[in-house]
Amino acid sequence: MHNLSVWAKGVSPSPTLAVDAKAKALKAAGESVCGFGAGEPDFDTPEFIKKAAEKALQDGMTKYAPAAGVPALRAAIAEKYARDNGLVDTEANQVIVSPGGKFSCYLAILSVISPGDEVIVPAPYWVSYPEMVKLAGGTAKYITTEMEDGFKISAEQFKAAITDKTRMVILNSPSNPTGAIYTKAELEAIVAIAIEHNIYILSDEIYEYLLYDGVEHFSPASFSKEAENLTITVSGFSKTFSMTGWRLGTLVAPAEIAKAVGSLQSQTSSNATTFAQYGALAALEHWDQSISAVQDMLKHFDRRRIMLLDGLNAISGIECNRSEGAFYLFPRIKNLGMSSMEFADKLLEDKKVAVVPGEAFGAPGYMRLSYATSDEVITEGLKRLNEFCSNIKG
Ligand SMILES: Cc1ncc(COP(=O)(O)O)c(C=O)c1O
Repeated sequence: MHNLSVWAKGVSPSPTLAVDAKAKALKAAGESVCGFGAGEPDFDTPEFIKKAAEKALQDGMTKYAPAAGVPALRAAIAEKYARDNGLVDTEANQVIVSPGGKFSCYLAILSVISPGDEVIVPAPYWVSYPEMVKLAGGTAKYITTEMEDGFKISAEQFKAAITDKTRMVILNSPSNPTGAIYTKAELEAIVAIAIEHNIYILSDEIYEYLLYDGVEHFSPASFSKEAENLTITVSGFSKTFSMTGWRLGTLVAPAEIAKAVGSLQSQTSSNATTFAQYGALAALEHWDQSISAVQDMLKHFDRRRIMLLDGLNAISGIECNRSEGAFYLFPRIKNLGMSSMEFADKLLEDKKVAVVPGEAFGAPGYMRLSYATSDEVITEGLKRLNEFCSNIKG
Protein backbone atom coordinates (compact mmCIF):
# COMPACT_ATOMS: atom_id res chain seq x y z
CA MET A 1 0.00 0.00 0.00
CA HIS A 2 1.60 3.25 -1.09
CA ASN A 3 1.16 6.56 0.57
CA LEU A 4 -0.09 8.61 -2.37
CA SER A 5 -0.17 12.41 -2.26
CA VAL A 6 -3.34 14.45 -1.86
CA TRP A 7 -2.93 15.43 -5.54
CA ALA A 8 -2.69 11.85 -6.78
CA LYS A 9 -5.54 10.71 -4.54
CA GLY A 10 -7.70 13.68 -5.45
CA VAL A 11 -7.47 13.49 -9.22
CA SER A 12 -9.72 11.26 -11.36
CA PRO A 13 -8.48 9.69 -14.59
CA SER A 14 -9.94 11.14 -17.81
CA PRO A 15 -13.25 9.32 -18.45
CA THR A 16 -13.23 10.21 -22.15
CA LEU A 17 -9.81 8.64 -22.66
CA ALA A 18 -11.03 5.62 -20.65
CA VAL A 19 -14.09 5.07 -22.89
CA ASP A 20 -11.92 5.39 -25.97
CA ALA A 21 -9.37 2.91 -24.57
CA LYS A 22 -12.16 0.40 -23.73
CA ALA A 23 -13.62 0.69 -27.25
CA LYS A 24 -10.17 0.26 -28.81
CA ALA A 25 -9.47 -2.80 -26.64
CA LEU A 26 -12.78 -4.41 -27.72
CA LYS A 27 -11.92 -3.67 -31.34
CA ALA A 28 -8.46 -5.21 -30.91
CA ALA A 29 -10.16 -8.31 -29.50
CA GLY A 30 -12.05 -8.65 -32.80
CA GLU A 31 -15.40 -7.09 -31.80
CA SER A 32 -17.23 -4.84 -34.27
CA VAL A 33 -17.34 -1.62 -32.25
CA CYS A 34 -19.12 1.62 -33.22
CA GLY A 35 -16.98 4.22 -31.46
CA PHE A 36 -18.53 7.61 -30.72
CA GLY A 37 -16.15 8.25 -27.83
CA ALA A 38 -13.11 9.78 -29.49
CA GLY A 39 -12.36 13.46 -29.13
CA GLU A 40 -10.19 13.66 -32.21
CA PRO A 41 -10.66 14.15 -35.96
CA ASP A 42 -10.51 10.88 -37.89
CA PHE A 43 -8.43 12.55 -40.64
CA ASP A 44 -4.66 12.61 -40.99
CA THR A 45 -2.58 15.76 -40.52
CA PRO A 46 -2.29 17.67 -43.84
CA GLU A 47 0.71 16.44 -45.81
CA PHE A 48 2.51 19.80 -46.05
CA ILE A 49 2.52 20.15 -42.26
CA LYS A 50 4.00 16.66 -41.86
CA LYS A 51 6.63 17.45 -44.50
CA ALA A 52 7.69 20.63 -42.66
CA ALA A 53 8.19 18.70 -39.41
CA GLU A 54 10.06 15.95 -41.28
CA LYS A 55 12.37 18.57 -42.78
CA ALA A 56 12.96 20.15 -39.36
CA LEU A 57 13.84 16.73 -38.00
CA GLN A 58 16.28 16.11 -40.86
CA ASP A 59 17.73 19.61 -40.42
CA GLY A 60 18.65 18.80 -36.83
CA MET A 61 15.87 20.58 -34.93
CA THR A 62 16.27 17.88 -32.35
CA LYS A 63 17.50 19.97 -29.41
CA TYR A 64 15.76 21.93 -26.66
CA ALA A 65 13.88 25.01 -27.87
CA PRO A 66 13.22 28.07 -25.70
CA ALA A 67 10.64 27.05 -23.04
CA ALA A 68 8.03 29.52 -24.32
CA GLY A 69 8.30 28.20 -27.87
CA VAL A 70 10.28 28.61 -31.10
CA PRO A 71 10.44 32.42 -31.61
CA ALA A 72 9.20 32.31 -35.23
CA LEU A 73 6.18 30.25 -34.16
CA ARG A 74 5.34 32.59 -31.27
CA ALA A 75 5.48 35.52 -33.72
CA ALA A 76 3.27 33.69 -36.25
CA ILE A 77 0.72 32.87 -33.53
CA ALA A 78 0.68 36.55 -32.40
CA GLU A 79 0.05 37.54 -36.03
CA LYS A 80 -2.80 35.02 -36.37
CA TYR A 81 -4.49 36.41 -33.25
CA ALA A 82 -4.15 39.97 -34.54
CA ARG A 83 -5.48 39.02 -37.99
CA ASP A 84 -8.12 36.38 -37.24
CA ASN A 85 -9.26 36.90 -33.65
CA GLY A 86 -9.28 40.68 -33.31
CA LEU A 87 -6.51 40.76 -30.67
CA VAL A 88 -4.91 43.50 -32.70
CA ASP A 89 -1.89 44.42 -30.57
CA THR A 90 -0.81 40.89 -29.64
CA GLU A 91 2.97 40.54 -29.45
CA ALA A 92 5.10 37.41 -29.48
CA ASN A 93 6.01 37.83 -25.79
CA GLN A 94 2.32 37.27 -24.92
CA VAL A 95 2.34 33.85 -26.61
CA ILE A 96 3.35 30.50 -25.12
CA VAL A 97 3.56 27.25 -27.10
CA SER A 98 2.92 24.26 -24.84
CA PRO A 99 2.73 20.48 -25.22
CA GLY A 100 -1.03 20.54 -25.91
CA GLY A 101 -4.07 22.71 -25.33
CA LYS A 102 -4.68 20.62 -22.22
CA PHE A 103 -1.38 21.71 -20.73
CA SER A 104 -2.08 25.32 -21.78
CA CYS A 105 -5.32 25.18 -19.76
CA TYR A 106 -3.51 23.75 -16.75
CA LEU A 107 -0.77 26.39 -16.91
CA ALA A 108 -3.39 29.14 -17.28
CA ILE A 109 -5.14 27.94 -14.13
CA LEU A 110 -1.85 27.48 -12.22
CA SER A 111 -0.74 30.99 -13.16
CA VAL A 112 -3.59 32.81 -11.38
CA ILE A 113 -5.30 30.34 -9.03
CA SER A 114 -4.04 29.86 -5.47
CA PRO A 115 -5.36 27.51 -2.76
CA GLY A 116 -8.78 28.69 -1.59
CA ASP A 117 -9.67 30.52 -4.80
CA GLU A 118 -12.92 29.72 -6.58
CA VAL A 119 -13.28 29.10 -10.30
CA ILE A 120 -16.69 29.27 -11.96
CA VAL A 121 -17.17 26.35 -14.33
CA PRO A 122 -20.32 26.20 -16.46
CA ALA A 123 -21.68 22.63 -16.72
CA PRO A 124 -21.69 20.58 -18.90
CA TYR A 125 -17.93 21.13 -18.79
CA TRP A 126 -14.88 19.59 -20.42
CA VAL A 127 -13.78 16.76 -18.10
CA SER A 128 -10.38 18.21 -17.24
CA TYR A 129 -11.34 21.66 -15.89
CA PRO A 130 -12.51 20.57 -12.42
CA GLU A 131 -9.50 18.30 -11.99
CA MET A 132 -7.07 21.05 -13.01
CA VAL A 133 -8.70 23.51 -10.60
CA LYS A 134 -8.34 20.87 -7.85
CA LEU A 135 -4.66 20.35 -8.72
CA ALA A 136 -4.11 24.10 -8.28
CA GLY A 137 -5.71 23.94 -4.80
CA GLY A 138 -8.79 25.85 -6.00
CA THR A 139 -12.48 25.00 -5.82
CA ALA A 140 -14.71 24.66 -8.86
CA LYS A 141 -18.15 26.25 -8.54
CA TYR A 142 -20.58 24.98 -11.13
CA ILE A 143 -23.39 26.70 -12.96
CA THR A 144 -25.67 24.03 -14.39
CA THR A 145 -27.25 24.47 -17.81
CA GLU A 146 -29.72 22.28 -19.72
CA MET A 147 -30.51 21.79 -23.39
CA GLU A 148 -33.34 24.35 -23.10
CA ASP A 149 -30.65 26.99 -22.26
CA GLY A 150 -28.69 25.91 -25.32
CA PHE A 151 -26.15 24.70 -22.69
CA LYS A 152 -25.03 28.31 -22.11
CA ILE A 153 -24.87 30.39 -18.94
CA SER A 154 -26.36 33.87 -18.83
CA ALA A 155 -24.63 36.95 -17.46
CA GLU A 156 -27.20 36.97 -14.62
CA GLN A 157 -26.36 33.39 -13.62
CA PHE A 158 -22.67 34.26 -13.73
CA LYS A 159 -23.19 37.32 -11.54
CA ALA A 160 -25.21 35.33 -9.02
CA ALA A 161 -22.43 32.73 -8.70
CA ILE A 162 -19.70 35.25 -7.86
CA THR A 163 -18.36 35.34 -4.28
CA ASP A 164 -15.46 37.26 -2.78
CA LYS A 165 -13.29 34.20 -3.50
CA THR A 166 -14.07 34.03 -7.24
CA ARG A 167 -10.93 34.54 -9.31
CA MET A 168 -11.71 32.96 -12.65
CA VAL A 169 -14.49 31.84 -14.99
CA ILE A 170 -13.89 29.22 -17.66
CA LEU A 171 -15.56 29.74 -21.03
CA ASN A 172 -15.34 27.12 -23.76
CA SER A 173 -16.96 28.14 -27.03
CA PRO A 174 -17.43 26.06 -29.17
CA SER A 175 -17.96 23.64 -26.31
CA ASN A 176 -16.83 20.15 -25.59
CA PRO A 177 -19.13 18.27 -24.84
CA THR A 178 -22.18 20.16 -26.15
CA GLY A 179 -20.97 21.87 -29.35
CA ALA A 180 -22.70 25.06 -28.12
CA ILE A 181 -21.42 28.45 -29.29
CA TYR A 182 -21.92 31.75 -27.48
CA THR A 183 -23.02 34.70 -29.59
CA LYS A 184 -21.05 37.93 -29.44
CA ALA A 185 -23.77 39.61 -27.36
CA GLU A 186 -23.88 36.71 -24.86
CA LEU A 187 -20.11 36.78 -24.46
CA GLU A 188 -20.01 40.57 -24.15
CA ALA A 189 -22.54 40.47 -21.31
CA ILE A 190 -20.50 37.84 -19.44
CA VAL A 191 -17.22 39.66 -20.05
CA ALA A 192 -18.72 42.92 -18.73
CA ILE A 193 -19.53 41.18 -15.42
CA ALA A 194 -16.03 39.69 -15.26
CA ILE A 195 -14.53 43.16 -15.75
CA GLU A 196 -16.84 44.67 -13.12
CA HIS A 197 -15.68 42.05 -10.57
CA ASN A 198 -12.06 41.78 -11.73
CA ILE A 199 -12.36 38.07 -12.57
CA TYR A 200 -9.99 36.31 -14.95
CA ILE A 201 -11.46 34.58 -17.99
CA LEU A 202 -9.94 31.36 -19.24
CA SER A 203 -11.26 31.27 -22.80
CA ASP A 204 -10.66 27.81 -24.23
CA GLU A 205 -11.08 28.24 -27.99
CA ILE A 206 -9.58 24.96 -29.15
CA TYR A 207 -12.57 24.32 -31.49
CA GLU A 208 -12.57 27.88 -32.89
CA TYR A 209 -12.47 26.80 -36.54
CA LEU A 210 -14.98 23.95 -36.31
CA LEU A 211 -18.18 25.91 -36.99
CA TYR A 212 -21.39 25.06 -38.91
CA ASP A 213 -24.59 26.74 -40.09
CA GLY A 214 -22.70 29.99 -40.77
CA VAL A 215 -22.12 30.84 -37.08
CA GLU A 216 -19.15 32.98 -36.09
CA HIS A 217 -16.59 32.55 -33.35
CA PHE A 218 -15.61 35.44 -31.06
CA SER A 219 -12.63 35.82 -28.74
CA PRO A 220 -13.51 37.61 -25.47
CA ALA A 221 -10.03 39.18 -25.36
CA SER A 222 -10.89 41.14 -28.52
CA PHE A 223 -13.77 43.06 -26.91
CA SER A 224 -11.77 45.78 -25.12
CA LYS A 225 -8.44 46.55 -23.48
CA GLU A 226 -9.98 45.67 -20.08
CA ALA A 227 -11.21 42.33 -21.45
CA GLU A 228 -7.80 41.58 -22.96
CA ASN A 229 -6.14 42.37 -19.66
CA LEU A 230 -8.23 39.71 -17.84
CA THR A 231 -8.33 37.00 -20.50
CA ILE A 232 -6.10 34.00 -21.02
CA THR A 233 -6.92 32.58 -24.45
CA VAL A 234 -6.08 28.93 -25.05
CA SER A 235 -6.13 27.06 -28.33
CA GLY A 236 -3.99 24.58 -30.20
CA PHE A 237 -3.34 22.61 -33.32
CA SER A 238 -4.94 19.27 -32.32
CA LYS A 239 -8.53 19.72 -33.44
CA THR A 240 -8.17 22.23 -36.28
CA PHE A 241 -5.39 20.50 -38.18
CA SER A 242 -5.86 16.89 -37.02
CA MET A 243 -2.68 17.06 -34.95
CA THR A 244 -3.81 15.47 -31.66
CA GLY A 245 -0.72 13.29 -31.38
CA TRP A 246 1.69 16.15 -32.01
CA ARG A 247 0.89 17.72 -28.64
CA LEU A 248 0.96 21.40 -29.49
CA GLY A 249 -1.12 23.96 -27.62
CA THR A 250 -1.08 27.74 -27.50
CA LEU A 251 -1.77 30.35 -24.87
CA VAL A 252 -2.12 34.12 -25.28
CA ALA A 253 -2.25 36.34 -22.20
CA PRO A 254 -1.18 39.73 -20.88
CA ALA A 255 2.65 39.82 -20.96
CA GLU A 256 3.04 39.47 -17.18
CA ILE A 257 0.86 36.35 -17.07
CA ALA A 258 2.51 34.90 -20.18
CA LYS A 259 5.90 35.35 -18.50
CA ALA A 260 4.68 33.49 -15.40
CA VAL A 261 3.24 30.73 -17.59
CA GLY A 262 6.62 30.50 -19.36
CA SER A 263 8.34 30.02 -15.99
CA LEU A 264 5.85 27.34 -14.92
CA GLN A 265 6.42 25.55 -18.22
CA SER A 266 10.20 25.86 -17.98
CA GLN A 267 10.11 24.01 -14.63
CA THR A 268 7.67 21.31 -15.69
CA SER A 269 7.70 20.27 -19.36
CA SER A 270 10.46 22.57 -20.71
CA ASN A 271 9.41 23.14 -24.31
CA ALA A 272 6.90 21.55 -26.68
CA THR A 273 8.68 19.13 -29.05
CA THR A 274 11.04 21.24 -31.14
CA PHE A 275 10.62 19.73 -34.63
CA ALA A 276 6.85 19.46 -34.14
CA GLN A 277 6.74 23.24 -33.69
CA TYR A 278 8.07 23.65 -37.24
CA GLY A 279 5.08 21.69 -38.55
CA ALA A 280 2.79 24.13 -36.72
CA LEU A 281 4.78 27.03 -38.15
CA ALA A 282 4.13 25.71 -41.67
CA ALA A 283 0.39 25.53 -40.87
CA LEU A 284 0.42 29.24 -39.98
CA GLU A 285 2.75 30.34 -42.77
CA HIS A 286 0.61 28.62 -45.42
CA TRP A 287 -2.69 29.73 -43.93
CA ASP A 288 -4.76 29.49 -47.13
CA GLN A 289 -3.68 25.91 -47.64
CA SER A 290 -4.42 25.14 -43.98
CA ILE A 291 -7.87 26.69 -44.05
CA SER A 292 -8.68 24.82 -47.24
CA ALA A 293 -7.75 21.54 -45.48
CA VAL A 294 -10.02 22.54 -42.58
CA GLN A 295 -12.88 23.34 -45.00
CA ASP A 296 -12.55 19.87 -46.54
CA MET A 297 -12.72 18.26 -43.12
CA LEU A 298 -15.69 20.45 -42.14
CA LYS A 299 -17.69 19.31 -45.16
CA HIS A 300 -17.51 15.75 -43.86
CA PHE A 301 -18.16 16.74 -40.25
CA ASP A 302 -21.21 18.77 -41.24
CA ARG A 303 -22.76 15.91 -43.23
CA ARG A 304 -22.16 13.50 -40.36
CA ARG A 305 -23.49 16.00 -37.82
CA ILE A 306 -26.86 16.13 -39.59
CA MET A 307 -26.94 12.34 -40.13
CA LEU A 308 -26.33 11.74 -36.45
CA LEU A 309 -28.65 14.52 -35.29
CA ASP A 310 -31.58 13.30 -37.41
CA GLY A 311 -30.92 9.69 -36.45
CA LEU A 312 -30.82 10.48 -32.73
CA ASN A 313 -33.98 12.59 -32.80
CA ALA A 314 -35.79 9.77 -34.63
CA ILE A 315 -35.22 7.44 -31.65
CA SER A 316 -38.06 7.53 -29.14
CA GLY A 317 -36.78 8.77 -25.74
CA ILE A 318 -33.79 10.70 -27.17
CA GLU A 319 -33.81 14.48 -27.71
CA CYS A 320 -30.91 16.36 -29.25
CA ASN A 321 -30.04 20.01 -29.94
CA ARG A 322 -28.66 21.06 -33.33
CA SER A 323 -25.21 22.03 -32.05
CA GLU A 324 -23.21 24.39 -34.22
CA GLY A 325 -19.61 23.73 -33.29
CA ALA A 326 -16.83 21.22 -32.53
CA PHE A 327 -17.70 17.60 -33.49
CA TYR A 328 -20.00 16.54 -30.69
CA LEU A 329 -23.71 16.07 -30.10
CA PHE A 330 -25.04 15.91 -26.57
CA PRO A 331 -28.48 14.31 -26.52
CA ARG A 332 -30.69 13.95 -23.45
CA ILE A 333 -31.61 10.39 -22.54
CA LYS A 334 -33.29 11.04 -19.18
CA ASN A 335 -36.59 9.69 -20.45
CA LEU A 336 -35.13 6.23 -21.01
CA GLY A 337 -35.31 5.50 -17.30
CA MET A 338 -31.69 4.69 -16.40
CA SER A 339 -28.64 6.76 -15.49
CA SER A 340 -26.36 7.81 -18.34
CA MET A 341 -23.57 5.80 -16.74
CA GLU A 342 -25.64 2.62 -16.73
CA PHE A 343 -26.90 3.38 -20.25
CA ALA A 344 -23.36 3.82 -21.62
CA ASP A 345 -22.08 0.68 -19.87
CA LYS A 346 -24.94 -1.53 -21.10
CA LEU A 347 -24.80 -0.03 -24.60
CA LEU A 348 -21.13 -0.93 -24.90
CA GLU A 349 -21.63 -4.35 -23.39
CA ASP A 350 -24.76 -5.36 -25.35
CA LYS A 351 -24.36 -3.50 -28.65
CA LYS A 352 -20.66 -2.55 -28.75
CA VAL A 353 -21.49 1.12 -29.17
CA ALA A 354 -19.16 3.49 -27.28
CA VAL A 355 -20.50 6.83 -25.99
CA VAL A 356 -19.38 8.96 -23.05
CA PRO A 357 -21.93 9.27 -20.23
CA GLY A 358 -23.00 12.79 -19.23
CA GLU A 359 -21.84 12.25 -15.63
CA ALA A 360 -18.26 12.70 -16.91
CA PHE A 361 -19.15 16.28 -17.89
CA GLY A 362 -21.21 17.13 -14.82
CA ALA A 363 -24.42 16.49 -16.77
CA PRO A 364 -26.24 13.30 -15.74
CA GLY A 365 -29.11 12.42 -18.06
CA TYR A 366 -27.11 13.21 -21.20
CA MET A 367 -24.45 11.46 -23.29
CA ARG A 368 -21.76 12.69 -25.65
CA LEU A 369 -21.33 11.33 -29.15
CA SER A 370 -18.47 12.40 -31.36
CA TYR A 371 -19.19 12.49 -35.09
CA ALA A 372 -15.51 12.52 -35.92
CA THR A 373 -16.05 9.03 -37.27
CA SER A 374 -17.08 7.44 -40.57
CA ASP A 375 -20.56 7.58 -42.15
CA GLU A 376 -20.66 3.77 -41.90
CA VAL A 377 -20.06 3.84 -38.15
CA ILE A 378 -22.76 6.48 -37.75
CA THR A 379 -25.32 4.47 -39.76
CA GLU A 380 -24.56 1.20 -37.99
CA GLY A 381 -24.25 2.88 -34.55
CA LEU A 382 -27.66 4.53 -34.93
CA LYS A 383 -29.21 1.19 -35.91
CA ARG A 384 -27.78 -0.49 -32.82
CA LEU A 385 -28.73 2.44 -30.59
CA ASN A 386 -32.30 2.28 -31.89
CA GLU A 387 -32.50 -1.45 -31.15
CA PHE A 388 -31.03 -0.91 -27.70
CA CYS A 389 -33.52 1.86 -26.84
CA SER A 390 -36.48 -0.16 -28.20
CA ASN A 391 -35.47 -3.06 -25.96
CA ILE A 392 -35.32 -0.80 -22.89
CA LYS A 393 -38.72 0.69 -23.63
CA GLY A 394 -40.21 -2.63 -24.68
C1 LIG B 1 -12.34 21.75 -24.58
C2 LIG B 1 -10.98 21.20 -24.81
N1 LIG B 1 -9.92 21.94 -24.45
C3 LIG B 1 -8.67 21.50 -24.62
C4 LIG B 1 -8.41 20.27 -25.18
C5 LIG B 1 -6.99 19.85 -25.30
O1 LIG B 1 -6.57 19.46 -26.53
P1 LIG B 1 -5.04 19.12 -26.81
O2 LIG B 1 -4.36 18.94 -25.49
O3 LIG B 1 -5.04 17.88 -27.63
O4 LIG B 1 -4.48 20.28 -27.56
C6 LIG B 1 -9.48 19.45 -25.55
C7 LIG B 1 -9.25 18.08 -26.07
O5 LIG B 1 -10.05 17.21 -25.97
C8 LIG B 1 -10.80 19.93 -25.38
O6 LIG B 1 -11.86 19.20 -25.76
